[in-house]
Amino acid sequence: MDREDLRGIGVNDSDCIAFLQWALPRLGLHWRGFRKVRRQVCRRVEARFRELGLADAAAYRGRLESGQKAEWEALAALCTIPISRFYRDPPVFDCLGTAVLPALAQAALGRGAAQLECWSAGCASGEEPYTVSILWRMALEARFPQLSLRVLATDIDPGLLERARVACYRASSIRCLPVLWCEQAFERRDALYCLRPAFLAGVEIEREDLLAQPPQRLFDLVLCRNLAFTYFAPDLVRVALERIGSRLRAGGALVIGVHERLPQPATGFEAWPGCRAIFRRCTHD
Ligand SMILES: C[S@@+](CC[C@H](N)C(=O)[O-])C[C@H]1O[C@@H](n2cnc3c(N)ncnc32)[C@H](O)[C@@H]1O
Repeated sequence: MDREDLRGIGVNDSDCIAFLQWALPRLGLHWRGFRKVRRQVCRRVEARFRELGLADAAAYRGRLESGQKAEWEALAALCTIPISRFYRDPPVFDCLGTAVLPALAQAALGRGAAQLECWSAGCASGEEPYTVSILWRMALEARFPQLSLRVLATDIDPGLLERARVACYRASSIRCLPVLWCEQAFERRDALYCLRPAFLAGVEIEREDLLAQPPQRLFDLVLCRNLAFTYFAPDLVRVALERIGSRLRAGGALVIGVHERLPQPATGFEAWPGCRAIFRRCTHD
């Protein structure tokens, strides 16, 4: 990390790395996933220990070692990474729109379903589930008038979910969306772009820990991007994949982040032909 990158971090970078390498595994998180985002986490950790009247990360570690459950929970909240945006990684959503969602819609019609079920696990402030909603309405709804889209959007952070319910965003959040879609899906309110009601319809927002009980229903499409496969410790990655797999219909699709991999062997999943970071749940394991 160069001098430029260190600007704004009060806590010494190597102290912070040592602290995170000690603390993250105890939270079921993996240091490797945090390397790139550590500046953000270090700033939050420093703000927290100063708020507690502590001098440095070592003193904060001492406080945590004294075993206060509430402080561990506070630290876990500091280590969630809320970064997201609409149509993040455009080739992935292009593939969803041209290949994956049409195939899933055909399969749903084939079994007589009236709804296409989608789950965005780790939805941040709603950018990802609302992207699916926009994609469906702008590109696919007219082709599949017998089907409606239902999207479950879950996250562990109640503050982010509240922002998802408000559904107003800065221009930077929507810059990857096609311009025409921006104009049709959002209305301008001062400096913000607020999603029109038609695109909120069918999106349900719920607080849920991916590592706790999974939702009850089965899904045709699950997006779990830039969460479990980046930040979770290896044993928990497998737990998360099993939970997701148990809720994904045979033939359904799992979308992960473009820099992520499924843990190997990823029994029961095969790459979706021609699409990066998208996998099909095999009809047989
Ligand atoms: C980096 S964001 C990814 C947002 C979106 N999926 C994307 O790729 O743009 C990760 C999200 O996962 C959420 N998260 C972290 N741990 C979680 C858990 N155990 N269960 C559910 N959500 C979690 C965070 O609050 C955050 O909103």
